[in-house]
Amino acid sequence: MKKALVCGAGGFIGSHLVKRLKAEGFWVRGVDLKYPRFSPTQADDFIVGDLRDLAVCHEAVDTRFDEVYQLAADMGGAGYIFTGENDASVMHNSAQINLNILEACRRRNSFRIFYSSSACIYPEYRQLEAENAGLAESDAYPAAPDSEYGWEKLFSERLYAAYARNHGFEVRVARYHNIFGPEGAWNDGKEKAPAAICRKVAQAGNPGEIEIWGDGEQTRSFLYIDECLEGTIRFMRSDWAGPVNIGSEEMVSINRLAAIAAEIAGKTITPRHIPGPLGVRGRNSNNKLIFEKLAWRPSQPLASGIAKTYAWIDQQVQKTQRPKEAPKPVVRQPEIVAAE
Ligand code: NAD
Ligand code: GDD
Repeated sequence: MKKALVCGAGGFIGSHLVKRLKAEGFWVRGVDLKYPRFSPTQADDFIVGDLRDLAVCHEAVDTRFDEVYQLAADMGGAGYIFTGENDASVMHNSAQINLNILEACRRRNSFRIFYSSSACIYPEYRQLEAENAGLAESDAYPAAPDSEYGWEKLFSERLYAAYARNHGFEVRVARYHNIFGPEGAWNDGKEKAPAAICRKVAQAGNPGEIEIWGDGEQTRSFLYIDECLEGTIRFMRSDWAGPVNIGSEEMVSINRLAAIAAEIAGKTITPRHIPGPLGVRGRNSNNKLIFEKLAWRPSQPLASGIAKTYAWIDQQVQKTQRPKEAPKPVVRQPEIVAAE
């Protein structure tokens, strides 16, 4: 039986990836600071531990794995990575994890390793307009990411490439473009636009109003989790190292994203634009390279993924809004009256 290690298995993509690998018949070990938040892990073995600690990494990689997926990172949406408040911890924590896990894998000859980089590595100067024809992998340099999160990802991409060059690792580096779906962060300050907008629409009345950061004309493309996993697995098993975009080419404005969510909810929603962390003005994936190398590219329309995500988030919102059940009347045991 093949063995896979998923670092970050308590997170959004990691917990879905564990399910996918189990369905394929792998023996899976997960490791994370925490168990998945929304459903029990399907990993055969789950280590709750801190990958900034090299000893934990050695414990996680105590045997040779056929596939290692390194997804653990200190990350979140615009509200987490663009405020500046988390810069030091984002850089320190994520870099430390990557430095450690590569060393642990080297010791156990676990050389096939996937690393989840990000669209955030692309230079800000290529994302200044809302219109964006798509970021090609070769656009990464001269480097000028707009966040420290992006700089750390770029450093780590280079770290993985160096381990490939010097230690014979088979690295696979993907640049994810805003992945969304059920069981992702939706209300903890780390949620990204798709989850945040679905939550706001679910919480709004009908007709209702939702807050959108900025003028809403900033653009992004969003990729549904199932397609992200499909691309990840195909890429991991290919004979090519990347880096490669794993993202959608269906670019939309955030106003349009809100309109799609509102339509799915069957609500009339008016956006109210407020100041907030914005990030780049326009971002889109260019999937020419992935199609050339893997003869595959994502194809599902954004609206179908948003429909599934909205349904899940609406459920979460209902759960939190449901009035607490009235306490049940205490039914006392009848007193046993001793027979005279
Ligand atoms: P996530 O935050 O849900 O998952 C990351 C997991 O890493 C979390 O469960 C967290 O607890 C864990 N982690 C953090 N520090 C740790 C530590 N010191 N030790 C052990 N575990 C630790 O994020 P996600 O959306 O599942 O993203 C997975 C990976 O993909 C990350 O590397 C992220 O940067 C990258 N990525 C994600 C997106 C996206 O849109 N979701 C886009 C680009 C890149
Ligand atoms: N999160 C969020 N919440 N974003 C909002 C909101 C809101 O309520 N309203 C508007 N937005 C806008 C943000 O201002 C930003 O311009 C845009 O929606 C997208 O925000 P996010 O989805 O949070 O982040 P991002 O696309 O800028 O970056 C994300 O994707 C990268 C990969 O593509 C982050 O999750 C990064 O960590 C990730 O690497």
